[in-house]
Amino acid sequence: MHHVTPSSVKTFHRKEFKIRIFPSLLAADYGRLAEACRKAQEAGGDALHLDIMDGVFVPNISMGPEVVRMTKRETPHFHRHVHLMLLHPDLYIERFIEAGANTLLIHIEAACDVKGALLEIRRRGIRAGITLNPETPAEKVFPVLDQVEEVLVMSVCPGYGGQRFMPEALPKIRTLWRQRTERSLSFDIAVDGGIDLETAPLVAEAGANLLIAGTSIFGAPDIRTAISSMRLAAEKVRPHGEEG
Ligand code: DX5
Ligand code: ZN
Repeated sequence: MHHVTPSSVKTFHRKEFKIRIFPSLLAADYGRLAEACRKAQEAGGDALHLDIMDGVFVPNISMGPEVVRMTKRETPHFHRHVHLMLLHPDLYIERFIEAGANTLLIHIEAACDVKGALLEIRRRGIRAGITLNPETPAEKVFPVLDQVEEVLVMSVCPGYGGQRFMPEALPKIRTLWRQRTERSLSFDIAVDGGIDLETAPLVAEAGANLLIAGTSIFGAPDIRTAISSMRLAAEKVRPHGEEG
């Protein structure tokens, strides 16, 4: 097994605040998933977001490790950003890493030792992320902020694509951005759900730099234009409270 120390895992520092666009495969045509991940990479996506649902933690069932493995085969150099919406994510860490996950995100609401699971993910040499549901206050993740490469703020109730963005996510992103600055941490701030040309600048202004989008990218007439215009719209604004 190839090991990478957490310090060499790629993170994006505050000074080089960089917007990245992650197309979410959930919104692709399930009959053409291989083609969709190739297109997402060719069109300029920075990582492929994969939604894993167990039908228990969320009221839907999506894909499993074999889909992650397929995307690795199709696009070996495209970062695989794997969002585990599982009640017991700790039981599946090994399998998703083995299948090719480069970032593994678990939920703070999961029924497991969350700190232990994050530690295990980083020990295995990939990026660890913590995710919060819309009803969970930002403060819940404060104790693990120094143990993650990334925090993901859900801006819809997880389970389905194509839902409306919940503006309640914005003050949470701002709170996390402040924590990051005050504690001199360097985690990325991701946002997932209802991200489009209108909401991208709002979340970027609040301090999010990783923008996950399904419907607005795979549902667009041209994926490349959808990605580049979203990037541009988000890059135009500065995070809340940032100088210059
Ligand atoms: C929702 C998933 C999202 C979903 C976003 O549970 O976590 O990643 O694909 O889809 P859109 O961008 O359509 O809201
Ligand atoms: Zn997701």
